[in-house]
Amino acid sequence: MAKESLTITDNRTGKLYEIPINYGTIHSTDLRQIKVHDDDFGMMTYDPAFMNTASCKSTITFIDGDKGILRYRGYPIEQLAEHSTYLEVAYLLLNGELPNGTQLAVWEKDITAHTFIHENVKKLMEGFRYDAHPMGMFISTVAALSTFYPEANKIFDAPTRQKQILRLLGKVPTIAAFSYRHIKGMPYVYPNDNLSFIENFLTMMYSIGSPNFKPEPVFERALNILFILHADHEQNCSTSAMRNIGSSQVDPYSAIAGAAAALYGPLHGGANEAVIRMLDHIDDIKKVPEFIAKVKNGEGRLMGFGHRVYKNYDPRAKVIKKLAYDVFEVTGKNPKLEIALELERIALEDDYFVKRKLYPNVDFYSGLIYQAMNFPMEFFPVLFAIPRTAGWISHWQELLMDPDQKIARPRQIYLGKEARDYVPISKRK
Ligand code: CMC
Repeated sequence: MAKESLTITDNRTGKLYEIPINYGTIHSTDLRQIKVHDDDFGMMTYDPAFMNTASCKSTITFIDGDKGILRYRGYPIEQLAEHSTYLEVAYLLLNGELPNGTQLAVWEKDITAHTFIHENVKKLMEGFRYDAHPMGMFISTVAALSTFYPEANKIFDAPTRQKQILRLLGKVPTIAAFSYRHIKGMPYVYPNDNLSFIENFLTMMYSIGSPNFKPEPVFERALNILFILHADHEQNCSTSAMRNIGSSQVDPYSAIAGAAAALYGPLHGGANEAVIRMLDHIDDIKKVPEFIAKVKNGEGRLMGFGHRVYKNYDPRAKVIKKLAYDVFEVTGKNPKLEIALELERIALEDDYFVKRKLYPNVDFYSGLIYQAMNFPMEFFPVLFAIPRTAGWISHWQELLMDPDQKIARPRQIYLGKEARDYVPISKRK
């Protein structure tokens, strides 16, 4: 049988090294033995943006980017989107198995019980400027929760950790909805224990005056599916941020605030907002070829296209595209859909995009659905952050239980000045 190892020849010294291979990878610290002199630091790898570095072992989410496969704990995303609910998926991500009926009932009840927020959290939110970006409010308010639950820093105490998990899952929709009401200048609507998770969220968002507000069932289903699709995506930018921050053993509220900040960027969770802005900018289906030509010329990117991992159609985008038509049946077609479809049609035939394996990603159609459901554009990343909280805390918990993990601390290649003496200001040119 072939040996599970890699033999490296250092041409500087002629020495041979045998490095074990595990799970198709080598341990980068095994390279440290490769030295020219005894006092050398040893060989490192250079991998900006972690293009080819596994930073952990994980059992949560599997992606095969070439085949367009996404599975949570082994279950295909398409099946979960069709049959499951967001809270059931959150349970699956965190616990590794789907809950039975009793476990699910207890889980839903426990999370619902934690949807209320301290009155001072509400007051804190009232302090934001009238036009504050809801994602900025979300990030800061989640961070502030650590001051309300100081025991949360006992991260290795299982019952304390579980309590924070329930609090986070329960409170993020409330904080999100309050941030929306804030920019709209509308009174905050308190959570209602008698409603399902999604119904409660939509009620906190949209009910005005009437105690009998009932969200449109198609919206409820659409949001459930969108939340399932966004719940986890293995080591993406924000989840890596969560793991990096969590590795310092800080409380989960502070770590989630950092993860949410990473999500806010236009190359990550801010992309669906950027897609709508791009479609607004194109404005007319006739201008699509001109826009594509500019992208190919390096003048901007086709937002909602491309992915670090998927080099085939993003399986989430397929589900979302189909879902868009269900929502549009109720709301009427979003006029930007025609532009989006034309962009997709041209891009999928164009050599530039084909060669680079650029396909629509999760964000290409989700913004159109959110807009049809009346969510303002700046609220889109918040809609991503609510379900991704389940993924972030699943990875955080896995990290804490992983004996291989330590505080995250990459190395660098220092290319700056050599040591030199301080020059008094009077002598500087
Ligand atoms: N439009 C035009 N060209 C693109 C695009 C795009 N959307 N994405 C990548 N390229 C080109 C890029 O210019 C480069 O070309 P060249 O080789 O000639 O220099 C090549 O494709 C490879 O791009 P890259 O930047 O090295 O790829 P990456 O893996 O670092 O970036 C990405 C991945 C998602 C950041 C990028 O595709 C992108 O900026 N897409 C638009 C933003 C977007 O939709 N983001 C949402 C990602 S999915 C949701 C999430 O996980 O948050």
